[in-house]
Amino acid sequence: MTDKFARLTIDGSDNTIDLPILSGNLGPDVIDVRSLGSSGCFTYDPGFLSTASCESKITFIDGGKGILLHRGYPIEQLADQSDYLETCYLLLNGELPNEQEKAEFENTITQHTMVNEAMARLFRGFHHDAHPMSMMCGAVGALSAFYHDSLDISNPEHRKTSAHRLIAKIPTLAAMCYKHHIGQPFMYPRNELSYSENFLHMMFGTPCDEPNVNPIIARAMDKIFLLHADHEQNASTSTVRLAGSSGANPFACIASGITALWGPAHGGANEAVLKMLDEIGSVDNIDEYVLKAKDKNDPFRLMGFGHRVYKNFDPRAKVMKETCAEVLNELGINDPQLAIAQRLEQIALEDEYFIERKLYPNVDFYSGIIMKAIGIPTDMFTVIFATGRTVGWIAHWNEMVSESYKIGRPRQLYTGYEARDYQTMDKR
Ligand code: CMC
Repeated sequence: MTDKFARLTIDGSDNTIDLPILSGNLGPDVIDVRSLGSSGCFTYDPGFLSTASCESKITFIDGGKGILLHRGYPIEQLADQSDYLETCYLLLNGELPNEQEKAEFENTITQHTMVNEAMARLFRGFHHDAHPMSMMCGAVGALSAFYHDSLDISNPEHRKTSAHRLIAKIPTLAAMCYKHHIGQPFMYPRNELSYSENFLHMMFGTPCDEPNVNPIIARAMDKIFLLHADHEQNASTSTVRLAGSSGANPFACIASGITALWGPAHGGANEAVLKMLDEIGSVDNIDEYVLKAKDKNDPFRLMGFGHRVYKNFDPRAKVMKETCAEVLNELGINDPQLAIAQRLEQIALEDEYFIERKLYPNVDFYSGIIMKAIGIPTDMFTVIFATGRTVGWIAHWNEMVSESYKIGRPRQLYTGYEARDYQTMDKR
């Protein structure tokens, strides 16, 4: 309960409504408007600019200060000292695992990495030049057709098994998207490899060879997964929660998250960044593109810049930038796109337009260059984002379903026709 209220006076009536103000542990207070509907008014907030859609204990972002915490732990510390699977355990369970818990969790995930063999037939039905994200949307949704034994969402054990299955099988499906695309045989997972090594083996290995994964690349891959693991109530996570609020099964909910992630304003930005750097082509053309980005009549935006929540810097971008430099250095790659990216970042950070609007490089700005160095093709970038983010989606879905929740059902400000009579064909 609270003793703080916001008093709302509705114009043209004597009616005042006291709305409770709720405080979280960190971040702004929220005005609880749930009782407002009974007074005949709704709040109006398209794009959720000022709306907290749920209560959560998983991830905290302070966009002004550039802070990102998972279960209280700063992302920089996790990127530096943890690994992706340990971070998955943390997001799902709320605490870091001890040695035994970590080993058990890694073993469980490893045991679940294979997918039903019929999934290979499903993939063969896709056209070879299908975008990998289109295959991912279909393949992840299809998992619910195979794993009926863990679909009772009211059963915590079923939810746990589904969570493990999703985290384990998504990299297998992601690699299948790529193999189908390039016409190579699907690779089975190998239990002796770590999560990221296994993914790289399934992507780049062939049945003719034993696994041979470069440890530098595996470390970079792991960091990319970790940096994408969760980001509180973004568009795709909110989509997963909304789908889950109807009681839909977890595989269907994660498939809905993947579809929401695909757009260039969200996870599709990493692919769009590389296309943009390609289009810019040379450092000499940057000024022209910066002018285009600032022109209100030109739809062009600098991809990889700006964020709804971060108005200082994106802490993930800082780590990603360092990882990018490390990877290119260790692999001895001199990528001309990196020079364009660095110059673009510098110009944008000094330009009044970007400063005024607090537009800083986001996580997607550097991740594409690392993935390119690793050998991952551009149209797989968003699939990689989806792979890393699966744990965040499932942690949020599980948090919601574990407690009492209502179906998500927003209302609207209707601006269409008032009631009118049906017109027969001869009168139209
Ligand atoms: N380039 C040029 N101008 C921009 C950009 C950009 N990338 N982003 C925002 N603006 C301008 C925009 O035109 C507007 O200007 P004005 O106030 O004069 O009308 C102002 O900045 C505010 O923009 P907005 O679209 O109202 O901001 P938003 O919070 O609704 O959108 C965003 C956030 C991320 C969708 C947007 O910044 C964007 O489209 N960025 C490029 C795509 C991108 O990199 N997305 C990845 C986000 S991080 C990964 C993830 O979590 O998904």
